[in-house]
Amino acid sequence: MGLDRAASIEDLRLRARRRIPRFAFDLVDGGAESEHNLRRNSAAFEEISLTPRYMRDVARIDTRAGLFGQTFDLPFGMAPIGMLNAFWPDADLILARLCKRENIPYVASSAASTTLERLAEAAEGNGWFQLYVSGDEAVTESLVARAEAAQYPVMMVTADVPAAGKRDRDIRNQLSVPFRFTPEVLVQLALNPVWSLASLQHGKPNIANYADLLQSATSYADVQKTLITPGFTWEHLERLRDRWKGRLLVKGILHADDAVRCADIGCDGIVVSNHGGRQVAFGPATVDVLPDIAAALDGRIRIILDSGIRRGADFMRAKALGADFAFSGRALAYGVGAGGAAGAQRAMDILKLELVRAMGQLGATSFDAIDAAARTPPTT
Ligand SMILES: Cc1cc2nc3c(=O)[nH]c(=O)nc-3n(C[C@H](O)[C@H](O)[C@H](O)COP(=O)(O)O)c2cc1C
Repeated sequence: MGLDRAASIEDLRLRARRRIPRFAFDLVDGGAESEHNLRRNSAAFEEISLTPRYMRDVARIDTRAGLFGQTFDLPFGMAPIGMLNAFWPDADLILARLCKRENIPYVASSAASTTLERLAEAAEGNGWFQLYVSGDEAVTESLVARAEAAQYPVMMVTADVPAAGKRDRDIRNQLSVPFRFTPEVLVQLALNPVWSLASLQHGKPNIANYADLLQSATSYADVQKTLITPGFTWEHLERLRDRWKGRLLVKGILHADDAVRCADIGCDGIVVSNHGGRQVAFGPATVDVLPDIAAALDGRIRIILDSGIRRGADFMRAKALGADFAFSGRALAYGVGAGGAAGAQRAMDILKLELVRAMGQLGATSFDAIDAAARTPPTT
C-alpha cells in the first residue's frame, strides 16, 4: 500500500513493519513484558466516549494551544524517543524539522541518536529537552549545562525509569551492546534492503549525547548505568529545580500525590505518562489516572499526557479528562518508518485531519474550550 492510501496510524505502523528489520521494529513497537500496559493504553482511550453537540457553527476550527508562553498550532508535540535512528535513519532530524514546520514542540531525548545541540538547531525554538538523571552527577550536570547553552526553554526530567524496563521482544532479538550481527540479524537485513542501504549510508546509530562515555561500554548494563539511576529521588528534583532556570516538567507521573509534590517543589508541569507501556506491564493506562491527578492539582501547574494516542480524537479525550496538552511518541515514529520525511508528514496529516473532523463532530470550535462537559455522562 502506498503512503497516500494509508488512512490511519495503524496503516502506517503496518507499512513500517514491512520495511524495517524485525529487531529494529520491535525496539520501538514493543512494550514491557506481557505488553498489557501497552495494549491497555490504547484500549482505555477507546473506552472514553464524548457526546457530540450539533447545530453549532463549526465552519472554523481552532486547534491552537498555549503553553509556557508559546502558542502552538496543534495541542500536541513529539515525545522524546531514544535511539530512533535505529528505527529509520535520520528519524530524529526528520521529526525535529517537522515539528518546527507544524509549529509544535519537539522533545529531544537524552538518549537520542542525534546530539541535543543539532536537534535544538533543527527545531529552531520549538525544541524542549528531556533529561535522564544519571548515577554519575557529573554526567547529569554536563547534560543540563549543554541544554542551557543550547537555549532549550523547557526541560523535562523523566521519573519513571528507576529500573530499565524489561522488554521481552528485545531479549528474544538478542539486542546487545556493542551491537552483534547474528546470523538472524543478517537475514533480516537482507530481507529489508531499503532500510539496510539507508542505514549503511547514515552509519551505525548511537546514543549521541553520551558518545564518548559509551565508547568503552561492553554491555547493556554499562549503558543503563550511565543513563539512569535507581537513586533518583525528590531531593534530586529539588536540586534540579534550583539549578534549571527555565521551565521544568516531570515526566512519568501516575499518582495524584506525586503530581501535587511536583507542584509543591515548584515544577511548571507534569507529563502523565507510563513511557508508552515500556516500563511496567502492571501499570494503569494514563487516561485512567488523569481525572484524579487533574482534580488534585486543581489548575496549579500544567498537565500534559502521553501513552497510547493513535487517533486525533484522543487529544480531545485527554483534554476532556483534564489534560492541557499531549505528546505523541510512536504515532509519529511509525510515520517515519513508513516513509521517511514523507511518511512523518503523512502521520502528522492523519492526526490533524482526524482532530479537526472530530472537533467539528463534537461541536467544539476551539480546542481550549473542550472540557469535562464533553464527556458522556454516566448512565445510572
Ligand atoms: C522507542 C522508544 C524510546 C523512548 N525513549 C524515551 C526516552 O529516551 N526518554 C523518555 O523520557 N521517554 C522515552 N520514551 C517514551 C516516550 O517519550 C513517550 O512517553 C511514549 O512513547 C508515549 O507513548 P506512545 O508511544 O504510545 O505515544 C520512548 C518511547 C519509545 C517508543
